[in-house]
Amino acid sequence: MRARLLGVSAAAVMLLGAGQASADLELAKASGCLACHSVEKKVVGPAWKDVAAKYKGNAGAKAELVAKVKAGGKGNWTAVTGGVPMPPYSPRVSDANIEKLVDFVLGL
Ligand code: HEC
Repeated sequence: MRARLLGVSAAAVMLLGAGQASADLELAKASGCLACHSVEKKVVGPAWKDVAAKYKGNAGAKAELVAKVKAGGKGNWTAVTGGVPMPPYSPRVSDANIEKLVDFVLGL
């Protein structure tokens, strides 16, 4: 009985987790990010999993990447992208949503 209850709550947690990830992906899609990014693979920009790996353990990464998504930029992924720039997203995407997207990417 106890084991069964634990199983049910673990499944619920997994479902909740997946729900959040797909909400974040929806936001990425609605914001236009998925035209150039995917979680797993390089498209025009680097794979978001690779971005997460690059900044793992870097306490300043969130602020840096929020600034980058807002203002755009290039030069951090030249070996992957051939030097294509990342376009600016502020004010097209709200600051709050840019933070959410960066949290999502860094959490991958
Ligand atoms: C037109 C194509 C394009 C779109 C659309 C795009 N990106 Fe990018 N993105 C890039 C490229 C190219 C780079 C690599 C830039 C570089 O070399 O510094 C990049 C880099 C990044 C990085 C890593 C930055 C770094 O300095 O390491 C993040 C995070 C990111 N993009 C998030 C986003 C988010 C969030 C959106 C949507 C709001 C988005 N991108 C939309 C092309 C794009």
